[in-house]
Amino acid sequence: MKTVLYPGSFDPFTNGHLDLVVRAGRLFDRVIVAIAVNSQKSPMFTMEERKALIELCCREIPHVQVVAFRGLLVDAIEEFGANAVLRGLRAFSDFEYELQMALMNRSLRHSCETIFMTPTQENSFVSSHMVKEVAMLGADFSAYVPPAAVPVIAAKIREMKRKEEGK
Ligand code: PNS
Repeated sequence: MKTVLYPGSFDPFTNGHLDLVVRAGRLFDRVIVAIAVNSQKSPMFTMEERKALIELCCREIPHVQVVAFRGLLVDAIEEFGANAVLRGLRAFSDFEYELQMALMNRSLRHSCETIFMTPTQENSFVSSHMVKEVAMLGADFSAYVPPAAVPVIAAKIREMKRKEEGK
């Protein structure tokens, strides 16, 4: 049984992420989407919200599990019994950081293999950061996230704006 662990912040889960989960599901017996919990970052969505949203978006894809992890990725690989790490490469600009991360992980644990997959062209410019930015500024973001995520993100933005306005 081959398991790939797909780590990330997923704040929020986008069509680019979903694309990779679907593609990886064709190659591996099990895909574990692993949400990194980093106390130094202040995400828009809590870990529980991100987990619920990913589970909702992936509910029709077989053999997908969603987990959260703290600390080192190489420890999460052991904990969840994964054979490899999956990361997406959208553009050349992603490559340097991804290569550094893959090499660091292999330096920390010799057996840690990283597999890179590319999304479809229409998802190649989509990032969580940009989705949040355009959504916060009032643009239609529905083309960049799975349909199930649209009302969840819209509600979060309304909640944030209400808080900002002190209501
Ligand atoms: O979606 P992101 O923010 O690009 O994901 C980055 C992530 C979470 C995969 C990376 O920061 C990570 O693996 N964090 C866990 C801590 C760790 O193991 N760091 C050392 C490897 S660089």
